[in-house]
Amino acid sequence: MEVIPLGPGFAAELRGVTLADIAADDASYAAARAAFEEHSVLVFRDQEVTDEGQLAFSRRFGPPEVTKVGSLGTGSHFVILTTIGEDGKVVPPDHRYAMRNKANQLWHTDSSFKRTPALTSILSARIIPERGGETEFVSTRLAFERLDPALRAKLANSFAWHDYAHSRGQIAPGLASPEERAALPPVCWRMVWKNPVNGRNALYLASHAYAVEGMEPAEGKALIDELMAAVTAPGSSYVHAWKSGDVVMWDNRATMHRGRPWPAHEARYMVRTTISATAADGLESMRPPAKQAAE
Ligand SMILES: [Fe+2]
Repeated sequence: MEVIPLGPGFAAELRGVTLADIAADDASYAAARAAFEEHSVLVFRDQEVTDEGQLAFSRRFGPPEVTKVGSLGTGSHFVILTTIGEDGKVVPPDHRYAMRNKANQLWHTDSSFKRTPALTSILSARIIPERGGETEFVSTRLAFERLDPALRAKLANSFAWHDYAHSRGQIAPGLASPEERAALPPVCWRMVWKNPVNGRNALYLASHAYAVEGMEPAEGKALIDELMAAVTAPGSSYVHAWKSGDVVMWDNRATMHRGRPWPAHEARYMVRTTISATAADGLESMRPPAKQAAE
């Protein structure tokens, strides 16, 4: 297996190994897992991907999420990100699928709004537009390490509230349905996620974050906005331009990502599997002290 660095200090392509190798073989998994902990974003090219093959690969990294209500693929282990409607045609720009894609164009980490957040997401390209539709990544680990020590110390003991309805509300009021709001009440996480394998800290932030525990709403929002700007500073991203057969996985503890737009008339069909974080991934240290969580 060869590791080819791709981005500014993070992200790498793995060559000489397939998803099937990693699913089937312990040594291949161990090597890929080590690369995942180190590089945060891994790219696999020229894969022959089936849903079953993607899921078998994904399961190596932990328990797969069950897709939430209101998403295409609900109740299964797959999230379908598509602009193709039931009639086989590309949906109009005001269609719910297209609005979801707009929400994905905000910087975020997947599933921070869930009761159990995600360790990693695995995304495979099935149908891609001619141009555009890239996925752009930043390292919240490298961003954390750029902050001044006093701010780092403060953030390590700060907790932010995350809410799915907040990120969707930035696109259109009511984009999160009453059913989704009921299923996904706001959750609170430490603002720094420590990787238990290498001890490196990363900011834990997303478009879903809207408030900081113990701060006035405006003050907390200003801190979140300031950190989002620092993390996404120009020159700090890796932009993945999709080719057919690409699979990309990322560490939701140490990165943020956003989708990039593409011409609205062009079809795009992507399949995501998402693996929940567990105690071995540092999840327990992310929970707020009990009295804060009780609010
Ligand atoms: Fe995402």
